[in-house]
Order: sequence, then structure tokens, then C-alpha cells
Amino acid sequence: MKKKVIIDCDVGVDDALALIQAFHAAELEVMAVTGVNGNVPIEKVMINIEKVLSLLQAPYQPMIARGADRPLQESLVHTPSVHGEDGLGRAEIKRREGAEWWQTWPGPADGLLTRMARQYPNELTLIAIGPLTNLALGLRKDAEGMNKLREVVIMGGAVRTRGNITPYAEFNFFIDPLAAAKVLESGLPITLVPLDVTHQVFLNAQIIEERVRPINNSLSQFVIDATGYNPVNHQFRGGSKTFYLHDPLAVGAVIDPDLMSKEKLALHVETEGGKRYGQVRELTAGKGPQSLEVCLRANKEKFLEIFLSSLEG
Ligand code: BDR
Ligand code: CA
Repeated sequence: MKKKVIIDCDVGVDDALALIQAFHAAELEVMAVTGVNGNVPIEKVMINIEKVLSLLQAPYQPMIARGADRPLQESLVHTPSVHGEDGLGRAEIKRREGAEWWQTWPGPADGLLTRMARQYPNELTLIAIGPLTNLALGLRKDAEGMNKLREVVIMGGAVRTRGNITPYAEFNFFIDPLAAAKVLESGLPITLVPLDVTHQVFLNAQIIEERVRPINNSLSQFVIDATGYNPVNHQFRGGSKTFYLHDPLAVGAVIDPDLMSKEKLALHVETEGGKRYGQVRELTAGKGPQSLEVCLRANKEKFLEIFLSSLEG
């Protein structure tokens, strides 16, 4: 039987790749896609969700819902240098008018999360690949409902490694550390996919030229355009030689639970201002709140095969 999933995202180039991977996975049924402020403002996130669904033309209509337009606290930060002003690196995709490919939930995303968690008790996996604001709002609204989720897989945090937005913090946790702290302390059955493991999976010039370009369809072209790959200098947008597949790896964790090795860890998220804002700290076992399943090593080649085969249609 397919696993029912909801994807909460802040599309974002790697979020878009994660959506492609999820919709093309034979193991998953994507019931809903919810948007949250993050890589780009919520208006652009929702446009990008519709663009990716237009590109995919899924054979069924997932629900989509607009979520939080700002973190629980603090100001708004976005990442145009990584994802471009529009969040999709200006990749050309036509957004279809009309709701042929999706259904729009009339209320806020947190309402859809709690409603679906109750509708499918112990069946739904929530994959959160943006800041955790919608999840925190869902817990505030109906913690009992949220606890009916079967699993929550979160891309976020830097546990035993440097951050990517500051030396200490990972982007999704940095944008809304209060939400991250509330979710990590909530008692939900969480699997965390932090930078420690997402930095093990990436695209580079060789993978693009030898394994992506030969696929030669609209999705492989989207990967090349959206990541801003330049065949002359072999660099991605922003001058990097690698493009990390953070969010697709979180989807990979649901497609194949054996893809990564995990440790049970108790974690704390720093919510006070200052240089360690948004940092994750390991607590001595037993002293912290709940322990989480934290992914620390990935089978890179196996993941890459899953990811690349999702581009084939
Ligand atoms: C995370 O931050 C975002 O920019 C990516 O989409 C990913 O979810 C990586 O730190
Ligand atoms: Ca993201």
C-alpha cells in the first residue's frame, strides 16, 4: 500500500526537486502540499507550488493550502542568492490557470494539517522541508490531532556540523527557531534529516552531464535551469560546484526508511537572539525532552538512484 504523505514546503529549488521526487515515487501518495514563508515570501511559495504541480500534471488532484506568512517571532529573511528572486531560479514553467491539477483548501495550512491528521489517524506522514511555523501553529490549534500523525520527517538543523546561514544555524531552524523548538519538544514521532546528512548528497558537474542531461526531458531540463547550472564554468547559481539535495533527501527517508543510519538524540534549539540563534545542541540522553531519530549517514548512491529515476517520469 502507498504511504499517504503531506509535504509542507517553502519552494525553493530543492523543495521543487523534492516535490518532483515525491509525486513520482511509486511508494507515496501525496495527499496535500502546504506552503510556508521561508526561501521566498509566502505569495511566491504558493505560485511556485502551482508551477511545480503544472509541470508534473499529477494523475490525481492534491490539496494545496497557504500557510504562515511569517515566523512565530523575529523578522523575515529570504535567500535569493541560492534560489533566485522567484525561488525557482527563473526556470521557465507555465503555471496553469484553473484547478485542473490541484484543489485549493480555503483555510490556512495548519487547519488542513490537523484536519487531515484526524481524518487519517496513524496513516499520514508529514514531510516538513521549510521552517516549522505551520507545524507549530497546528500544534497550538490541535495538539491531539497532530499527534495522530504516523510520522513527521523534518529537514532542518545542524547537529554535529556547521550551519549554512550562520556558522551555527541551519536555514529552516534559523528562520523560526521558536517553532522548531516547539515541534521538537511536542512528542510527535519525529525523524530529523539535518545538514549533517544532507551535505552528503549533492549534484555536481559530472552528475549533471553524465546522469541528468542524458534523461533529456522537461524534468531534467528543469533541474539544470532551476539550479542555475552553467556548463561553461561547471558552477551552480551563486558560484558553487555542488548543489545540495537537502529536501529531496527528506522525501528519500520516507520512500526508503533504510536509506540512512540513525541515532536517538535529545536536542535543544536556541531561541534567544545572539550569534547562536537557531542552533541545535545535543543534550545528555535522558536530560532533555524527548529523543528523536536523527539521520547521520546516507547511502549516497542509493539515494541518487532514487532521485534520478524520479526525473524519468
Ligand atoms: C534548507 O534551507 C532551504 O534553503 C532549503 O530549501 C532547505 O529546506 C537547507 O538548509
Ligand atoms: Ca526548503
